[in-house]
Amino acid sequence: MNVLGIESSCDETSVALLSGEVLKANLISSQDFHTKYGGVVPELSSRAHLQIIIPLVKDALSKSQIKLNEIDVIAATAGPGLIGALLVGLTFAKGLAYSLNKPFVPVNHIEGHLFSGFLMEEKPEFPFLAIVVSGGHTLLLLVKSFTDIKKLGSTVDDAAGEAFDKVAKMLGLGYPGGPKIQKAAALGDKYKIDFPVAELKDFYNFSFSGLKTSVLRFIQKEYGEASKIPQTDLYDIAASFQHAVIRAILGKTHKALKNYAVNSISLVGGVAANKELRESLAELAGKQKKKIVIPSIEFCGDNAAMIAFRGSKLFEAGKTSGLQYSPFPGLSKQHFA
Ligand SMILES: Nc1ncnc2c1ncn2[C@@H]1O[C@H](COP(=O)(O)OP(=O)(O)OP(=O)(O)O)[C@@H](O)[C@H]1O
Ligand SMILES: [Mg+2]
Repeated sequence: MNVLGIESSCDETSVALLSGEVLKANLISSQDFHTKYGGVVPELSSRAHLQIIIPLVKDALSKSQIKLNEIDVIAATAGPGLIGALLVGLTFAKGLAYSLNKPFVPVNHIEGHLFSGFLMEEKPEFPFLAIVVSGGHTLLLLVKSFTDIKKLGSTVDDAAGEAFDKVAKMLGLGYPGGPKIQKAAALGDKYKIDFPVAELKDFYNFSFSGLKTSVLRFIQKEYGEASKIPQTDLYDIAASFQHAVIRAILGKTHKALKNYAVNSISLVGGVAANKELRESLAELAGKQKKKIVIPSIEFCGDNAAMIAFRGSKLFEAGKTSGLQYSPFPGLSKQHFA
C-alpha cells in the first residue's frame, strides 16, 4: 500500500510517501523567512504552502519512484494548526483524492506526533506512556492501542515549546527558541538559578507560565533588561530554565510510571529534539527498566512521514472520510477526552 502524506499545519510544508512499512520519501520545506518577524505570520505561511506544495509532491514521487496512479491512500493533516495553512494541504489532498478516485484520510496532527516513534526501527510497545511536547501542546497520554488513547494530563497554560520560544525571545535569542536555548544552555550551569516547577492539584497537568514569568522577573531584578545580561549569565539562565522544564516533565513521567503499568515510554513532538531532555528521559527509563523510543530529529518537528503513518493506520481501521471534511484549528473536547 502506498500512502501519500501531506502536512501543512504551521510553517513546514511536508510531503511523504510510505510504501508498506518503508518510508520512501519525507521532504520538508521550512519557511525560514518567519524568523525576521519573531514568529509565524499566518497569511504568509498559507501563501508559502501554496507555492511549494505541488513541486514538493512531484519531488516526493520522483524520489520514491512511485507514479501518481500508484498511490493507494491520501492522508493529510486536518488540524490542529493555522486554519489558512491547514486549508492548503487539506484542500490539495482532497482534490488529488477526487481526481485519482482514491480514499482520503484526514489526520489529527497531534496523533501524527504521538505515533511518530513507529517510524523508528525500535518501536514503542503497547501500552506505552506518551509525552507529547510541541510548540502548541504538552500532553501525557496512556496509549493502549492505535485507537485507545487516554489523556492523563495536559498543560493548563503555555505549551513546553511555547515556553522555550517565549523565554528565548526574552533573552534576545530569536525564533524558534528551542534550539537557541539548547545551544546557550550547553554553555551554562543548570544549577545556578532555582527556577520553580509548578505543582498542580491535578498532578498530571503541566504549567509553564509561572516559570516563564519567574525568568522575566529574574532578568528585570538582576539586570533591568535583557540587553544588559552578561554572556555567561545568559548561558546560566538558559540552562537553569531548560533544567526546570525537564524537571517538570520527568516528575510527571516518574509519577505516571508508578501508577500505570506500561511497556514503553515515547517522547515526541518538536521539543523531543532537545538533547538534554532526551538524555534525561532515557536515563529515567533505564532506571525504571522501560523501553524508551524517541524519534530521530527528522521526525520530532513537523513532518509528513508521521501523517502518512497515522493515515495508514486509520485507513486500516476503516477511517476514511468524505471530501466535505473541514480542517479544525484546535483540539476539541472529544480529542483525548
Ligand atoms: N532542541 C530543542 N529544544 C527545545 N525545544 C525545541 C527544540 N527544537 C525545537 N523545539 C521547539 O519545538 C517547537 C516546534 O515543535 P512542533 O513543530 O512539533 O510544534 P508545532 O507543530 O508548532 O505545534 P503543535 O505540534 O503543537 O501543533 C517549537 O516551540 C520549538 O522551539
Ligand atoms: Mg507539530
